[in-house]
Amino acid sequence: MDSDGPDLARVDLGAPGLARVVDHLLGGAHSFAVDREAADVLESEVPGIRRAVHQTRSFQGRAVRYLLDQGVRQFLDLGAGLPGVGSVHEVAAASGRPARVVYVDIDPMAVAHARHMVRLVPNTAAVLSDLRSPALVFEHEEVRAVIDPDQPLGVLLTDVLPALPEPIGDVLDGYLDRMVAGSYLALAHPTSEGWPGAEGRTSETWAPVVLRTVAAVHALWDRVDLVPPGVVPVGDWRPDHPVEEVRQESTVPVLAGLGRVRPEA
Ligand SMILES: C[S@@+](CC[C@H](N)C(=O)[O-])C[C@H]1O[C@@H](n2cnc3c(N)ncnc32)[C@H](O)[C@@H]1O
Repeated sequence: MDSDGPDLARVDLGAPGLARVVDHLLGGAHSFAVDREAADVLESEVPGIRRAVHQTRSFQGRAVRYLLDQGVRQFLDLGAGLPGVGSVHEVAAASGRPARVVYVDIDPMAVAHARHMVRLVPNTAAVLSDLRSPALVFEHEEVRAVIDPDQPLGVLLTDVLPALPEPIGDVLDGYLDRMVAGSYLALAHPTSEGWPGAEGRTSETWAPVVLRTVAAVHALWDRVDLVPPGVVPVGDWRPDHPVEEVRQESTVPVLAGLGRVRPEA
């Protein structure tokens, strides 16, 4: 992994890519036939996944708008996938408050694609890196070029921690320790509890997925001060259209929340 970008020679173009599958579920145009077939399989294995993906992306947009209102102007989107439908730089631009944005992903194909998508967007980069190494992420040349570590930062972790087995506490600490007071952590995570009539379902195709308990997911925000309404079902987090969104809660239980980094004691 280097700043010249991903090694596409290692990419299997015949296999589906999770980032492109998500883009397809969101209604984006950045997928191949193999991804769309995989999305169909995923939906048959995990009914409700499409709505959950939409709700999670909507939550991310609302969180970004909230942070822009608080004066945050730089964002690190970890496990970003493709910066297509409702991506951070689009939300910021649409709100008239352009931001500095870095998209980080471990998938070389997704990052190559993302780099192409943001090549003309100022102060925006897509970087190949493993989010499990916060030090390497922050030291990355392109991250350093876009993100000022002395300014408040919005770190986004939407639907990516299920890709990481325990322990993840040290990973979160690695980011929180590098974020100045006034920074925020936005997180969305599906739970193993709360599924209608069944235990948590994971896809055979997209294993391994870690579905954490409600208590374990709540604990992810232990080190930050939660912005109201706290950690709630993803559609309930400051919905733009409260009645409609709450009534249509996904059958895939996802918890979401936004927390403010505390000043050092
Ligand atoms: C389900 S997608 C979520 C995409 C987006 N955050 C969203 O909410 O729609 C998970 C993404 O995380 C990426 N990912 C998985 N493990 C990662 C890691 N260790 N470091 C960086 N990205 C990772 C995958 O490649 C994939 O693009």
